[in-house]
Amino acid sequence: MAANPRTFADVQRTILSAHKESTVEDKMSFYDSWSDLYEQDVIFLDYQAPLLAAECLAAVMPEDRDQALVLDVACGTGLVAVQLQRLGFCNFHGVDGSEGMLELAQSKSMYQTLQKCTLGSESLPASSGGFVCMTTRTNTSNQLYKKQLQAVIEEMEQKGLWERVKVQEVEHWEKATSVHETKQDSKYISGIIYIYRKSRSQD
Ligand SMILES: C[S@@+](CC[C@H](N)C(=O)[O-])C[C@H]1O[C@@H](n2cnc3c(N)ncnc32)[C@H](O)[C@@H]1O
Repeated sequence: MAANPRTFADVQRTILSAHKESTVEDKMSFYDSWSDLYEQDVIFLDYQAPLLAAECLAAVMPEDRDQALVLDVACGTGLVAVQLQRLGFCNFHGVDGSEGMLELAQSKSMYQTLQKCTLGSESLPASSGGFVCMTTRTNTSNQLYKKQLQAVIEEMEQKGLWERVKVQEVEHWEKATSVHETKQDSKYISGIIYIYRKSRSQD
């Protein structure tokens, strides 16, 4: 097998290049350009989010997982669905703002539907999923997306469309690429998992 020509320093440069991007459009074109290398690059980061998100959802759905519908928000290339499938889930809908990431998710043939949707400028499609699974980093460079995500969540809660199931903060989300992003002496940045559920009145 050919050796991976990328190094942690390459991944670091790629991610730090995105820190200066300020608009949602900039962010989406960053992910479009990163999509082909994304899955191999996150291995360098010891990226834990997909596994932790899947375990978080599995913990609240101990049985009948094959019956559960899951809306995977900002699904990227589909790594959360890969982990969820390993735990017995099989009905996925995905949304993401990057066409490049969505194309790779599509190539996995795991999602019943995949839709382009940019949080912050477009409304989420009506959730056809019983559960809504969302994750984000909580480091300083990701505050814009975190705010956009929280605004969506608050709006859905206020409209009575979603109910909170579980919110889990995680200290070891992925390796930091900058010392300015970490708390104390940690080598990892933190993140958060939000599991919501479509309100029963919407069923
Ligand atoms: C770090 S990746 C995570 C992808 C996937 N959930 C995973 O764990 O591999 C972040 C994803 O969020 C998407 N994203 C970032 N900002 C977004 C926004 N405002 N609206 C929709 N998607 C967004 C990106 O396109 C990217 O696919």
